[in-house]
Parts: sequence; C-alpha cells; structure tokens
Amino acid sequence: MTSPADRPTPDRLLREAAARLDRRRFLTVTSAAAALAFGVNLPSAHAADAELAPRALGGDPFTLGVASGDPTPDAVVLWTRLAPRPLEPGAGLPPAGSVRVGWEIARDERFRHVERRGSTRAHAEFNYAVHVDADGLDAGRVYWYRFTVGPWTSPVGRTRTLPPRGRRTDRTRFAFVSCQAYEDGYFTAYRHLANEDVDAVFHVGDYIYEYGIDAAGGDRKYTDRTLPAALDHETTTLEDYRLRYSLYKNDPDLQAAHAAHPWFVTWDDHEVENNYAAGIPEKNQDPAPFVARRAAAYRAYWENQPLRMPQPRGTDLTLYRRVHYGQLAQFDILDTRQYRDDQANGDGWQYPTPESDNPARTLMGATQERWFAEGLRRSTATWNVVPQQVVFSRRKNTTAERSKLSMDAWDGYPAARERFLKTVEQAGVKNLVLLTGDVHVAYALDVKRDFADPNSRTVGVEFVGTSISSDGDGEQKPSNWATLTAANPHMKFYDGRRGYTVVALDRHQARADYRVVSHITRPGGTLSTAASFVTEAGNPGVRPI
Ligand SMILES: [Fe+2]
Repeated sequence: MTSPADRPTPDRLLREAAARLDRRRFLTVTSAAAALAFGVNLPSAHAADAELAPRALGGDPFTLGVASGDPTPDAVVLWTRLAPRPLEPGAGLPPAGSVRVGWEIARDERFRHVERRGSTRAHAEFNYAVHVDADGLDAGRVYWYRFTVGPWTSPVGRTRTLPPRGRRTDRTRFAFVSCQAYEDGYFTAYRHLANEDVDAVFHVGDYIYEYGIDAAGGDRKYTDRTLPAALDHETTTLEDYRLRYSLYKNDPDLQAAHAAHPWFVTWDDHEVENNYAAGIPEKNQDPAPFVARRAAAYRAYWENQPLRMPQPRGTDLTLYRRVHYGQLAQFDILDTRQYRDDQANGDGWQYPTPESDNPARTLMGATQERWFAEGLRRSTATWNVVPQQVVFSRRKNTTAERSKLSMDAWDGYPAARERFLKTVEQAGVKNLVLLTGDVHVAYALDVKRDFADPNSRTVGVEFVGTSISSDGDGEQKPSNWATLTAANPHMKFYDGRRGYTVVALDRHQARADYRVVSHITRPGGTLSTAASFVTEAGNPGVRPI
C-alpha cells in the first residue's frame, strides 16, 4: 500500500532502478525510455530530415484511413499515418526520412469550397504520423477533409466543429465506445456507428489489447489472409505497439467510424498492459523495464490518435482535458490509469480491507483531482459529463451483506470516490452523467450519495457502455444477471451484448440508447436498441422509456 506521497511515479522508478540494477542494465533501461520519450525532437528540428520522393513509398500510403479529433469551436485535429504495407516492419517505410503530405478541409464533400489547405511533413521518428491542427474554421459546422501524397489521395473524412462556447445550444448527440479486442471478433458495431447522426464519439479506453494475436486473427478466423507472426506475442516494445495499431487502424469498420465523426479519446489499461497502475505493472515484473514499456505504449498511442496534446515528453502523456459544448454540456475527460495507486488487496475481486479503505488512496492523482474540482466549481453548463474508464458505482456480486468488490474499479478506491462525490456536491453540480467502459457489458446506474443506503440521494447517473468486440458475441443476460441486479438496487439495466451507446442531451433531459449487434464472430451482425433511458435535468435518476 502506498500513499500518494510515496507513489512510484515513472521518474522515481527510474531513480530507484539506478540503485537496484547494475549500471549497464540500468543504462539499457533508461536509455530505452529516453530514446522513446525524453529525447524526441520537435518535428521543426527535423528540417534536415531527407524528404523522400513519393515514388519511394512504393504504393498507396493511406491504408490506415483518416481520423479527426478534439474539435473546438474553430479548429479540429486531422490525422493520418502513412503505411504503404501496414503489417510489414516499419509499415513499409524507411527508418529515417520524411514525406511531404498535403491536406485540405472543405465545406462540401466534393471539395469545391475549400476552407483551409496546407502541407506538412510526416517524419520517420513519429512513424510517419500526421497531426494537423486545422484552425480558422466556423463554429458548429460540418467539414470534409483529406490528405495527398504524390499521386495518392486519402479517403475523405467528415468532421464537425463545436458550437461557440458561450452560446445557448439546444441539443447534441454523441456516442461513446470502449474495449475493442481485435481477436475477439469483428468491429461490426463501428460499421453501424458510422451511420449514426452524432456530433462526436468518445472512446473511454482499451483501443488496443496487448495480447498476442494468431495468424487467423483469433475469433475472426480469417481464411483469406494470414497475419504476421510478429503479432503473436504480447506487446512490449515500440515496434510491437506500432504494429498493433497498424493492424487495428487497417480495419475497414474502425476506419469508417473514424472517417464519419470526430473523436475524443482517452485510454484505460490495455493500451499498455492489463490492470497496470501508474508506473506499476500488472504482476510482479521488474518495474524499471515497465517504465520503458509504458513510454513506448504512450508514444504509439499518441502517434495513432487524432490528439491535440503535444507528443509525450518524459515518460508521461497528459490526456485528461475539458471540452465545452456551448452552454449545454461540459465534458471532463479523465485519466484514471496514469496516476493511480496500485490496486489494493492484490487486485481482482476482494473483500474491502483497511488497505483498500485507506483515505490516502487516489485513482486520479492529486493534480487531476484539483483540476477536476476547479473545473466543476467554474462550470455553468447544464450537464456535467464525465467520460472515464472504470465503473464508478458500487457493484456487489452477492446479495449477502458482505460482498467482494472490484479492486481495479472505483470500488477499490472508496476514499477517492467519496472525494469525487463531495466535489460534485460542493460545486453544486445538478446534472452529473458518468460515461464508463472497461467491463464489456452495459449498465444504467443511479449514482447514490451513499451506495450502502438505497434510500440515500441520487446525485447523478452512470451509463456504462458495452464493448465493441471484447469477450466475443456476448449474451443479453449473462449468468450473473439476476444476482447483480438484485444485489445492486441502483442498477437499472444490465445487458451483455456488444455495441455502443448513443447519448442525446437537451436542456431538459439526457437520453441513452444502448445499441447492440446480433453477433461479431462472423461479419454482418445486425443492429438493434436493447433499451433506452432518460434522466431529467434537475431530477437525477435513470428511468426507462
Ligand atoms: Fe476492456
């Protein structure tokens, strides 16, 4: 058990490693982390990088599609990554050099009215990723964008800027998603999400999984292709993580969802390793090499997402951030993975103990907690929406008085949850909506002021979204359905199928539509709505409709 003061941050782990490891081994670890993270140069320092002729690419470099993200009222980040042969080492590009990439963003799909255009260089150092912050745009408008390299033009993406910050905005619709283990099935849910009329998509973690993927793509059971052997082990190096993103981004359904909507992404654990906590790996591995592994994973994440954040510096990447959707909603996108104390009681489902109840324990870290509290205090939005990773509400797995709880979720950090609820209360937040992933099932939950007392006040709602693909086809009522719903009276809905969730906000209510697909281990699954719930502004609590 560690208190926040002695929580092992990556930088401290490196210092400690110096004392424990022999000098040569320490230098190997630290120089790996440094090469990955500390030592990166800004692209502007790459003026001398040789510019490759487009023909050196040897084929269409736009095999990973396009994406946009982190829109503001006047800008949006446009992303692509050049990868002529995505599943080969280096994605088919040389280990040094740069490529000139043109971009344009237009008011129409046919690019007759181009709003902005320019060119930038994709550098080998960042795996030929492109992040363009296209600014000078109009608020609340749909745009189309594309990239060009030599004779090749990318697919066209559609995006949308946010409404003006201070303006009264009547409504928005967005989707949230999580957990997309490639080897567990097809991204059919994304094919359907691409057709939804939403302003944005929030991804709340597990964009990739680190486990090895066999030649047939696991439960996808490919017969028309053979995946490279380099995918068939757990990701630990920068090359491993980069190849994993190439595989995922090459998926046509995922590409369709990215091309259709701007995304706001945050991560959970599997972008690095299952159930890691800050600088501490899942099991009893040596923490010093884990720092280098985490730096590699964070860097590959940044390279592959439409993020405005600067590239990772040091071993960290600040991902929590705030988004204002007019006066209607404030989104506080959290990172509950990078700064947390280690899971108590050995992780997994355990009975609470003084260790898990320790008031010093943190899930968000002190800095993020302060940032969150300050943001809520200043908020004037109708809705305070919190996209985040792990289940916030209590989940007992037995109707008995005493129950084991998930040590990886907020249940394993009860003091941190109490501080969160106090912050919400003190800030006078009336309409709290938590958006959660992680568990590969859907729930609708009332957030109680005291989960131990069913009669305590409901202070908000938590919509837990199911997975895109993790855990395969799933079933409507998993085996523990009756127990879980009986043991947790604040749980109003539980469904174990794959899909995504659409949330519609207006000034009077928030509505969640839980979309599910019929199956994912074969292509072609059909879409339906499992259930819909609303919570009224000023009167929190989920009600079926
Ligand atoms: Fe997951």
